[in-house]
Amino acid sequence: NSSIDVDQRLIEEDILVTQAHVSALEKLKVISKNETKKIYQGLNGILNDYQKGKIKFSKKNEDIHMNVEYFLHQRIGDIALKIHTGRSRNDQVATDIRLYVRNEIINVHENIVVLQKTLIKLAEKYSKSIIPGFTHLQVAQPVTFGFIMMAWFFMLERDKSRFIDSYKRVNISPLGAGALSGSSHKLDREYVAKLLDFDGITSNSLDSVSDRDFIIEFISNSSLLMSHLSRFSEEIIIWASTMYNFVDLDDKVCTGSSIMPQKKNPDVLELIRGKTGTVYGQLMNILTIMKAQPFAYNRDNQEDKPALFNCVDTVMISVQAMNICLENLKLNEKVAKFSAKKGYSTATDFADYLVKKEIPFRDAHEIVGKVVAHAVSKKQDLDELSIEDFKSVSSVIEEDIFDFLNIEGSVRSKKTSGGTSYEEVNKQIEKAKNIIKEYEKN
Ligand code: ARG
Repeated sequence: NSSIDVDQRLIEEDILVTQAHVSALEKLKVISKNETKKIYQGLNGILNDYQKGKIKFSKKNEDIHMNVEYFLHQRIGDIALKIHTGRSRNDQVATDIRLYVRNEIINVHENIVVLQKTLIKLAEKYSKSIIPGFTHLQVAQPVTFGFIMMAWFFMLERDKSRFIDSYKRVNISPLGAGALSGSSHKLDREYVAKLLDFDGITSNSLDSVSDRDFIIEFISNSSLLMSHLSRFSEEIIIWASTMYNFVDLDDKVCTGSSIMPQKKNPDVLELIRGKTGTVYGQLMNILTIMKAQPFAYNRDNQEDKPALFNCVDTVMISVQAMNICLENLKLNEKVAKFSAKKGYSTATDFADYLVKKEIPFRDAHEIVGKVVAHAVSKKQDLDELSIEDFKSVSSVIEEDIFDFLNIEGSVRSKKTSGGTSYEEVNKQIEKAKNIIKEYEKN
């Protein structure tokens, strides 16, 4: 039954919750003012000793709740026997974890912001650097590196908003729900909620002690965040491969091979990608823990904590590690730009050129297809063809075609809002900076 090895992590939350509960008991005159003071002091002393590493938990006392009560009894004597009046470990543990998850939402949010700031820096540094944009991992159209960094920024922005949205469902107090049906001591639940900085109280005691939806939500939001980090990792790993060589990773996020002296392996990114599996696993874990539980509390719920803590640790270190990888990322601008020209990446711009000469897009598409086939047979890029090559396929094509075939022109022309033109990416960077500014104000 013992869970102390895992749930000792909740000691601070548990002490805060007990102190608030004791204040409610004092309000009811179940505990005197003087006793309340002694309990507060005793609990603070336990926390202090814990922080100094002087506390030795015992498995005999099962979990964090009973260990704390035991230590308190040792310190202040029989007054400690009163603290559990009108309370059950069921509402106690539910309250402890809500406090814990609430803090971790803020924590993960802060870590994401650090990563987003790094993305803004990279976007600014490489706002004019051209790199191939892919579809199906085939060169599609030229884009800027800044454009891609901003794409990641806004992906992370959604992650942040999901965590923040869940906060309102986490930050309500179940304390006072008792074992399942409430308490005959008329505890002032609103008062307790206020002491613990909750935004309100839960509405039904049965639901309060059995609800772990907020943990499922946290791990689910974490899973989506990890999915994004994993995709970034994968993309950078591809970019850093010998064949692509678009980016250089710092030595500190790579390792060599024990046998091949020339190797520089992107281990940290691979670990982030791998750890995504750990977090997905915990999502399946918590969903399965909850799926067949009748009301209300069942001991199955004790298994929520290994799932939650493992998810928290994995997500935090992954976001931080991704930040380190990006902080030291260098774009090989020449290689990236050279590759952006490959694969006839300005073929769409060519078709758009023909549309401007009043050729319907479908026909333009066909003409471009023919020219590309011609270029392929000559083993040349589009801008290496002669004007005669173009004219042999369509007479409307003039010398000005060459302005449309260069990749800078292509990037410049993508002026729709959200597009990859320099001005549009600058707008995205401004928007991103404002988001961060707003956040830092609050
Ligand atoms: N250690 C338990 C948990 O983590 C605390 C609640 C135990 N409650 C009970 N009725 N057995 O869930």
